[in-house]
Amino acid sequence: MRPAVLPDVATLRATIAAARAARPGLRVALVPTMGALHAGHLSLVDRAREAADVVVVSIFVNPTQFAAHEDLDTYPRTMEADLDALASRAVEWVFAPSAAEMYPTGFQTEVRVPRVATGLCATSRPHFFGGVALVVLKLLNAAMADVAVFGEKDWQQLQVIRRMVLDLNHPTQIVGAPLIRDPDGLAMSSRNAYLDATTRAAALALPRALQNAAQAVAAGARDVATLEADATRAIAAAGGRVDYVTICDEASLERSQAITTGARIFAAATFGSTRLIDNVGLLPGVAAG
Ligand code: PAJ
Repeated sequence: MRPAVLPDVATLRATIAAARAARPGLRVALVPTMGALHAGHLSLVDRAREAADVVVVSIFVNPTQFAAHEDLDTYPRTMEADLDALASRAVEWVFAPSAAEMYPTGFQTEVRVPRVATGLCATSRPHFFGGVALVVLKLLNAAMADVAVFGEKDWQQLQVIRRMVLDLNHPTQIVGAPLIRDPDGLAMSSRNAYLDATTRAAALALPRALQNAAQAVAAGARDVATLEADATRAIAAAGGRVDYVTICDEASLERSQAITTGARIFAAATFGSTRLIDNVGLLPGVAAG
């Protein structure tokens, strides 16, 4: 059965409140998305199901995290297919608000998590994490779920959300879920729909470069600058326009001075007109998950 579609915050709150009243102790999980769902999103739903009795998936293409020159208007919107995919996971509810519901006339509040949202994606997308933090806080407040699940594909986003929830004492528990790849190694992303076959083949240089870095570290390589330069060169050789290749501590997101426990390599590059991101643990630490 398809999930019930809840179009506004009042209906979402009333629906969850009624379910909680009918079943004391009910655990609710929230999975925020922008739709165009793929197996990566569905893995978050599966993780949510492990952690809770009922699952609400939000589908909202959030305008405040897109800059004027970015792809807000062309971002894939596939609501019917999304509802079918969520029916296959027996998701109870989809929260699908309008932009006017989320951002009423006169809206002006901002949410900033300045230090975690520095470097990596924030350098070329300075507007991005403010928009993400704002909409995720609104979604967390609307659902007041027991847990909310986010993917490690967007590692910096996950750290921004963890920091915000800690700083603001939000009661929802934040759960990270592993990055899901296509069989060829490309990280699944709604934006992969933009890639034609040739560009997609070129884009495989991104995950390969990061895997090669991990293999080099496993074989004893320890020089941060060399690892970054080698990955940058490999991505550029395949025609990718490199935004960044940076090795950071996976919890603080501060640039690594040396390859120590918790070092992770992060990259963003544009193939054709599609910007892709990826990350791979080099020496996995305790912050993963
Ligand atoms: P979106 O790109 O739709 O992703 C929704 C969630 O799915 C995020 O937590 C993201 O990390 C996760 N996800 C996407 N691809 C994944 C993959 N290949 N493996 C594992 N998880 C994956 O991220 C957003 O939307 C938005 O910024 C949002 C948090 C919804 C706020 O608008």
